[in-house]
Amino acid sequence: MKETIKAFKEGFQSDHFKTKVLYASKAFQTVAMLKLIQSYGLGLDVVSGGEIYTALKAEFPVETIYFHGNNKTPAELRYAIENGIIHFVVDNRMEVELLSILSQEYDKKLHVMIRLNVGIEAHTHEYIVTAHVDSKFGMLYESENCQQAIQIVQTSDHLVLEGFHAHIGSQIFEMTAWLAEIDKLVGYLKEFDEELSLNLGGGFGIRYTESDRPLPIEETVKELVRYTEEALQKQGVTIQQLMIEPGRSMVGEAGTTLYTVGFIKQTPHKKYYFVDGGMTDNIRPALYQATYRCDLATKLTAAKTEKVTVAGKMCESGDVVIQETFLPPAEPGDILAVYATGAYGYSMSSNYNRALTPAVVFVNGDTSRLVVRRQEYADLLRGEVL
Ligand code: LLP
Repeated sequence: MKETIKAFKEGFQSDHFKTKVLYASKAFQTVAMLKLIQSYGLGLDVVSGGEIYTALKAEFPVETIYFHGNNKTPAELRYAIENGIIHFVVDNRMEVELLSILSQEYDKKLHVMIRLNVGIEAHTHEYIVTAHVDSKFGMLYESENCQQAIQIVQTSDHLVLEGFHAHIGSQIFEMTAWLAEIDKLVGYLKEFDEELSLNLGGGFGIRYTESDRPLPIEETVKELVRYTEEALQKQGVTIQQLMIEPGRSMVGEAGTTLYTVGFIKQTPHKKYYFVDGGMTDNIRPALYQATYRCDLATKLTAAKTEKVTVAGKMCESGDVVIQETFLPPAEPGDILAVYATGAYGYSMSSNYNRALTPAVVFVNGDTSRLVVRRQEYADLLRGEVL
């Protein structure tokens, strides 16, 4: 995590405008993580009252928090404003209207980034232009909704137009879609007299399996800055600040999930290694057919002679951790390490089947530190009215 944070920070700099890396904390949000992010001076992307609450508990500097989301509730907006958050990435016209009213009521200056749907959807290796005009996120720049939203901000006493935001996808492995996004966003700026800011979103891919070829972070973000400088010069516009908001790439490869192998079962065509977790700590295989690499940590040097399916213990056929992999012969009690589970694993965990969520341990060289304790049964009844 530290190496990745440094690579983002050192690469994402310009002599022409301010730059800021925001951590998209939905990928993995705990107080310990936010303290680490804060110690490197990064900003934060939050998407809910719960993420704001955690950020406040971590004493994250509120002036560097950006509040995202397509349907922030009135209570969440009030909570954010009352706690000093001033940056809002707004998704739609109704949100701008409400924010305008709230900014007056609280008599607070609020900075608004407009989330745009730039019509570019990045897939791992390619991108589609004019895709997804009906996306639930953001507004098409040309749309009436968007123009009205901008107008409301510009005519409001308390709202300040900070700039534009777009996020074009996740687990992206090549630059072209981002460059097309930059061209679009910079193009829009020509219509404004004031100097605005841009946020290019996140999406930097990571290596889950051998077939993933992530872009080197430092070089990639340097190129994003360089290309933006060039595009600005060509279009004759300047910006105040350029932002990006990586989530997965900050934490993904740093995480390893340790399971204990339980029963082993042979069916006519498959051999199953069952583990003491599954979709409740990592829903990505079930939800996105995501693939992972693994090893038997207790038999690291043994030959991988067994073709197996690693399955979880939840009552769902889809609860499979790895569909097919080669591992050494195992026995109950062996430890199975699944790699690159740091992002969207713990943060998407659940108590389905009343499973307990596991502990989270930060490791630094040969020292380690418990940052989330393993749940216990009593945690399951928290909030129940008995
Ligand atoms: N900014 C915005 C506005 C986003 O919606 C997201 C992710 C990010 C930044 C961070 O993207 P990243 O750098 O992590 O790719 N649960 C899914 C991923 C959902 C991503 C949602 N938005 C998964 O496990 O693959």
